[in-house]
Amino acid sequence: MAMASTYAPGGGARALAQGRCRVRGPAGLGFLGPSKAAGLPRPLALARRMSSPVAVGARPRFIQHKKEAFWFYRFLSIVYDHVINPGHWTEDMRDDALEPADLFSRHLTVVDVGGGTGFTTLGIVKHVNPENVTLLDQSPHQLDKARQKEALKGVTIMEGDAEDLPFPTDSFDRYISAGSIEYWPDPQRGIKEAYRVLRFGGLACVIGPVYPTFWLSRFFADMWMLFPKEEEYIEWFKKAGFRDVKLKRIGPKWYRGVRRHGLIMGCSVTGVKRERGDSPLELGPKAEDVSKPVNPITFLFRFLVGTICAAYYVLVPIYMWIKDQIVPKGMPI
Ligand SMILES: C[S@@+](CC[C@H](N)C(=O)[O-])C[C@H]1O[C@@H](n2cnc3c(N)ncnc32)[C@H](O)[C@@H]1O
Repeated sequence: MAMASTYAPGGGARALAQGRCRVRGPAGLGFLGPSKAAGLPRPLALARRMSSPVAVGARPRFIQHKKEAFWFYRFLSIVYDHVINPGHWTEDMRDDALEPADLFSRHLTVVDVGGGTGFTTLGIVKHVNPENVTLLDQSPHQLDKARQKEALKGVTIMEGDAEDLPFPTDSFDRYISAGSIEYWPDPQRGIKEAYRVLRFGGLACVIGPVYPTFWLSRFFADMWMLFPKEEEYIEWFKKAGFRDVKLKRIGPKWYRGVRRHGLIMGCSVTGVKRERGDSPLELGPKAEDVSKPVNPITFLFRFLVGTICAAYYVLVPIYMWIKDQIVPKGMPI
């Protein structure tokens, strides 16, 4: 299903703004608490809180930070391709999600941001010469796995941060990012970067999770990482300056379209760069300073709780698969 501007972005913006104003979080867990946002004067502190992704709603999201994500993938990279992807991100889904990216020529230049072990890059090089493709990720452990893949020989594989891309403005024909936005502390900043590095008329395709509606799934999602609502994606793209913003729903076949548990790969959002140069959107300083030291006890707590909550999402596709086997075909599950 493709949706253009049908997501009432005005309403989405209002909901977002309201969510941001409801910021509450325990002190010492990396939250900008209501009374002390980095010691800034009150109006500045409020502005900073409102632009902080951690401040969207009152969700802890223990792994939606670069340091936690780094350590998360330090371990997950060992089993990522074989244990995680088969439940959430199959080859069929990948090809379906990449279809709106319009990879029609082998000569297109493409960057795959948060490309990890190269699973999505493998889908890209089916259409585009590997020499024209750049895979960027913040995890050296994930990139090591990508380097071992024969089909990715020729691809430029490099470390980098999605929120601060090491490329000149107006560089690529396509920007692809699959399953990475949920770890970015400031998704709007990442999408603004997508706009900047694309050439005029270039297309960005961000594939990512969707927010669950079932209460238990919502609880674990909120504790783990960012599961945006569909209208949030649309809003981020439009604010960054993209035109023709569209959202396509995706999901594993055996879910039979069920979305109440949320999906780690639930939609593919595309937009076209409207004008040459940087995005018209102005943002303040980065939400997270990775070079800043963290309290190791706090970090360990966040990391362990976040990882336990992530484990719930290893079980959901198994549960859905069993249901698909049991419930007669054609019936809702
Ligand atoms: C779920 S994996 C997706 C990997 C790959 N795109 C795929 O389709 O299988 C998420 C990836 O995003 C990367 N990541 C998280 N935060 C990032 C950031 N700020 N900059 C670059 N990569 C990041 C992680 O290291 C991880 O490899």
